[in-house]
Amino acid sequence: MCHLMEGSRYIFFSNGGCLFEPRNHLRAVCVCVCVFILFLLFLGEWTSPTVTGDRPPPINDFTLTSIINTTAILFGGYDGDRKSNDVYVFEFTDTSVKCTNFSNPGGSVLWSKERLGHSSVLINCSSGPHLLVVGGTGGGSNTNDCWLLNINKMEWKELTNIPDSVTNRVSHSLSVWNVTQTTHWIIEFGGERKGGSRISDTRFIEIISSTGDLVVQSVLDINEYQKRRIQGISQTSANDIPNHLLF
Ligand SMILES: *[C@@H]1O[C@H](CO)[C@@H](O)[C@H](O)[C@H]1NC(C)=O
Ligand SMILES: *[C@@H]1O[C@H](CO)[C@@H](O)[C@H](O)[C@H]1NC(C)=O
Ligand SMILES: *[C@@H]1O[C@H](CO)[C@@H](O)[C@H](O)[C@H]1NC(C)=O
Ligand SMILES: *[C@@H]1O[C@H](CO)[C@@H](O)[C@H](O)[C@H]1NC(C)=O
Repeated sequence: MCHLMEGSRYIFFSNGGCLFEPRNHLRAVCVCVCVFILFLLFLGEWTSPTVTGDRPPPINDFTLTSIINTTAILFGGYDGDRKSNDVYVFEFTDTSVKCTNFSNPGGSVLWSKERLGHSSVLINCSSGPHLLVVGGTGGGSNTNDCWLLNINKMEWKELTNIPDSVTNRVSHSLSVWNVTQTTHWIIEFGGERKGGSRISDTRFIEIISSTGDLVVQSVLDINEYQKRRIQGISQTSANDIPNHLLF
C-alpha cells in the first residue's frame, strides 16, 4: 500500500515486504513483516524509518488517510485471520514513524465494526478532523454502513440515513471536495455489491459542517448532482464563474 501524504515531502509505504505462504490447503495467509518505507520526494530516495510505539501487526485492505502532512490515520484491515476495527495514528519525521494505538479499550464504547475493503476520507471542519468510513466487508458479507470518527475525541458515530446504494460496496473509491469551508461533497465511485457484481455507479454525499457538527444534507445520484450544480451556477453571478464552466 502506497500513500502520498497530503502536502508532504514523502510518500509512505507500509507492509511493503508481503510474502504469501500457504497455511493450509484451503487458503494462503499473508505472513508479511510489518515494514514501513518512506520515499523522500525531495531527495528521490527510499528510507526505512525507525518505528516506535504501538507497531500494528501485518495487515492488508486497510485505509490510510492523511490528517496533516506529518500525520496519518489507519483504520481496519485483515491480518489473514482477523478482520480489524483498530485505529492507529502515525506521526512521521523524515527518519521516524511513531505509532499510537487508539483502538476501542476493552470494547467498551460505541465503535465501528471490523472491516476490510472499505474506503475512508478526511473531512476537516471547525470542530476538527473527522474520518468518514463507507462500506467494506465484515463477517462474510458487506457491512452496509457508514461511520464518522471525530479524530480529536476518538468518538465514533454511525450515520444511519445513508442509502444502501452508497453503503453496499467493497473496494470502491471515495474522494472529498470541499466547495466551501463548510460544504463538503463526498464522491463515491465503483466497487462491488454484495455477491460480487461490479458497479460503475457514482454517488454524491453532501455534508454541511456550519454548526461544527457534520450533517448529511443530501445523497444524490449523478443526474441529481448535475441538476444541482447547474442550478448552483445559474444562481451565482456569471462573472464569478470561470468561462469553461459556462454551458
Ligand atoms: C508540513 O507542512 C508545514 C507547513 O506547511 C511545513 O512547514 C513542513 O515542512 C511540512 N512537513 C513535511 C514533512 O513535509
Ligand atoms: C491495539 O488495541 C487493540 C484493542 O485494545 C488490541 O487488540 C491490539 O492488539 C492493539 N495493538 C497493538 C499493536 O498494541
Ligand atoms: C482544518 O480546519 C480548521 C478550521 O477551519 C483549520 O484551522 C485547520 O488548519 C484545518 N486543518 C487542515 C489539516 O486542513
Ligand atoms: C476547504 O476549502 C477552503 C476554501 O473554501 C480552504 O480554505 C480549506 O483549506 C479547505 N480545507 C481542506 C481540508 O481542504
